[in-house]
Amino acid sequence: MNEFQRELTSSLEKFCQDNIEPHMEHDDHEGKFRMEIFRGLGEYGVTGVTLPEEFGGAGLSYQDYAYVLETIAKYSVPYAVTVSVSSMVQSILLNFGNAEQKKKYLPALTSGEEIGAFALSESHSGSDAANMKTTAKKVDGGYMLNGTKMWITSGGIAKTYIVMARTGGEGAKGVSAFIVRDGDKGFSFGKAEKKMGWKTSPTRELVFENCFVPQENLLLEEGKGFNVAMGGLDRGRVAIGAIGVGCAQRALDESIKYSLTRQQFKQAIFDFQGLQFMLSDMATETEASRLMVHSAALSLDSGTPNSKLCSMAKLKATDTAMKVTTDAVQVLGGVGYTSEYPVERFMRDAKVLQIVEGTNQIQRVVIARHLKKEYEQ
Ligand code: CAA
Repeated sequence: MNEFQRELTSSLEKFCQDNIEPHMEHDDHEGKFRMEIFRGLGEYGVTGVTLPEEFGGAGLSYQDYAYVLETIAKYSVPYAVTVSVSSMVQSILLNFGNAEQKKKYLPALTSGEEIGAFALSESHSGSDAANMKTTAKKVDGGYMLNGTKMWITSGGIAKTYIVMARTGGEGAKGVSAFIVRDGDKGFSFGKAEKKMGWKTSPTRELVFENCFVPQENLLLEEGKGFNVAMGGLDRGRVAIGAIGVGCAQRALDESIKYSLTRQQFKQAIFDFQGLQFMLSDMATETEASRLMVHSAALSLDSGTPNSKLCSMAKLKATDTAMKVTTDAVQVLGGVGYTSEYPVERFMRDAKVLQIVEGTNQIQRVVIARHLKKEYEQ
């Protein structure tokens, strides 16, 4: 971490302590998302970290962004996820949008005034994303969308949605990507999911019934929607990895603090070697994950994303988050299982990190495909 990153994260840490931490136990219980927290993060300058200043972004690197997400996730995994999905939408617009689309949609997203969401999954096509059924039929002046998207992070609170729909034949080549806005005729929100974790981040169905999308809202060209989605996910997966690191780090911090003060058998439980081995493994795995996330972030900063590294970072950091948060509950024992301490919340929030933006089994599929290609050459 360089001097700039140290300053950035320590002042952001203070912001999160003052503005996020005080609400989290209550809001997790109530399932309450607060737009003012998101807008506060925007005013702070972290809702468009890697976007160029020309579009209202901070113009920083993906490595800086990884530290930003790690820091927010130490206080709230769901708010870090809201920032990361909205940032993925921004990177899609930046990399695949035309000049007009960038100018029109990016400033409200980078400033945190609006939230962005990404709509790929459907009830029968999660991992097999190319098998989607939502259609976009060519009509005069644009496309008519019909179908339902599922498990959409920030569904209902986002304004701008990147929606993948089928314009052509079967498989990935028949998919196109569109910009759809909340309020567009024929676009409505379905069921809000009741979840184990991520309670302050709404997850919702999106329903398209004869929703007209003008031609100018097509991204790239017809048939390139799957590439748009996968390109976005390379960046999104590194971000989810960074959130996993923050989640694990908070659980580790809580475990060390607690074990240094909790006395059993006339000594701090930290002084039992069994606990020391556990805490050392938790710290080592968290640091290893951080290094992998930064290695993948470096590939994004170089301008040629390394999909294999992006998947590896997501896999390692989110499996670590699950393991470390589960161990943290064990270290804290009885109180760890109660909402008196935050570790049970972080354990619930960690679970879905292994599922979103491609399950960790799908990350292994991506890694194996790259390995095969490399060794076949
Ligand atoms: N970047 C750009 N293009 C890519 C790419 C990448 N990283 N990976 C693949 N592509 C392209 C391929 O080159 C190919 O295009 P061409 O034919 O033009 O070369 C096209 O995409 C199809 O690729 P595949 O043949 O590999 O496609 P597949 O059907 O075998 O699927 C898969 C591959 C890896 C399994 C993919 O379906 C996948 O990643 N599935 C998981 C889906 C997922 O991650 N969903 C997350 C939902 S979003 C979410 O969770 C966000 C949230 O709300 C928090």
